[in-house]
Amino acid sequence: MTSSPTLPAFTLTRPQATPLDPPPLYAQLREEQPITRVSLWEGRLTPWLVTRWEDARAVLGSPAFSSDPTHPGAPTFREGQPKNPRGFFAGYDDPVHAAMRRTLTREFMVKRINELRPAIARLTDELLTGLTELSGPADFVEHFALPLPSLVICELLGVPYEDHPFFQEQAKAIVDLNVSAEESARAIANLGEYLLGLVRTKRTTPGNDVVTRLAAQVDKGVITDQDAAHLSAFLLFAGHETTANMIALSTITLLNHPDRIPHILGGPDQVASAVEELLRYLSIVHGGLRRTAIEDVTIGGVTLHAGEGVIVPVHVANRDPEFFSNPDDLDLERANVRQHLAFGYGIHQCLGQPLARAELQIILPEVFRRLPDLKIAVPMEEVAFKQATAVYGVRELPVTW
Ligand code: HEM
Repeated sequence: MTSSPTLPAFTLTRPQATPLDPPPLYAQLREEQPITRVSLWEGRLTPWLVTRWEDARAVLGSPAFSSDPTHPGAPTFREGQPKNPRGFFAGYDDPVHAAMRRTLTREFMVKRINELRPAIARLTDELLTGLTELSGPADFVEHFALPLPSLVICELLGVPYEDHPFFQEQAKAIVDLNVSAEESARAIANLGEYLLGLVRTKRTTPGNDVVTRLAAQVDKGVITDQDAAHLSAFLLFAGHETTANMIALSTITLLNHPDRIPHILGGPDQVASAVEELLRYLSIVHGGLRRTAIEDVTIGGVTLHAGEGVIVPVHVANRDPEFFSNPDDLDLERANVRQHLAFGYGIHQCLGQPLARAELQIILPEVFRRLPDLKIAVPMEEVAFKQATAVYGVRELPVTW
């Protein structure tokens, strides 16, 4: 992305020296022009960038904005992004969004997710045992950070984990911005087809899983079998890349702050607040949450007009010094940390957050308990950060222990 003559270009690229901080330009914009236009697709789109915490929350909580990426002014990642099926309901407004989301809310209630905790602990143990049996250095992403959430989401959905090379490939194509709009739509269709087969299988051989319960909602006439397939595909995708990246980046962050590791080992309350601070500090959805104004609306003293696109870069808003004191510090006891926007805010706030939290709360202490000598096996400058992806992370992380 290059800059138009007058507007700063929206960028995902961070300097090599500060890979865990948002690009420095954004701190300056937040200070000087907290709501400003930026250039996207070489200036063919000029959406608003809303960088302060308070304004970001106001946009995300307002019914004056649409999440539909097919609005003409919508600041999408790719030019010509076709409309996703409605099971991918993050890109729909109410009432479709609410109807689709409602089919899954029970699945992500804290009580239901807590029932998964023993399975998460068992899978963590098995994967860490497998890792330690390798002769190091080994890739922490391949052997732990990616398979763990993948196994957990498979268990929750009732998807056979043996098929993971296929669906991980599709999930990657959906978030990789170097992949064209057509290829990303193809990946969504592939996932949908795969899950449609599974929805049909679960009718004859039901299990205690989300796909079986979605198939039952089809039988009751609540949704179509295409909806059930796409809802499952969306979860399979959403539950993968995000948590995997969060595990790898949290591990890097803690290894860069070794004095904070004892805090992580200090019991459930300490872990819970530490996980919130890591979510805030890393705010991995660095492509930003994208909306289009559907009516004129004033945010932070600036009037945004109907039809104009808006990007809410949560990684920048979550470093706003007006709301979080010393925001660039990793403060595992930060008092107001729970008001971070890493899971979004408003009607689209992350449905999977109880699961993501449970995974991170179980995994992170276990990693540092089991691997007290864990180290990154290459200099930080050589760690392969994923820049051109909607969700920030690392491609691989060679470690020794
Ligand atoms: C640390 C991990 C995660 C992060 C940081 C994260 C972040 C987010 C964010 C920022 C949104 C809001 C998007 C928007 O407003 O446009 C979102 C939505 C969503 N997330 Fe997550 N997520 C994570 C893990 C998960 C997991 C594990 C699942 C499911 C298994 C999941 C399922 C969803 C769904 C279904 C939505 C759409 C909600 C809606 O539109 O109503 N996420 N997530």
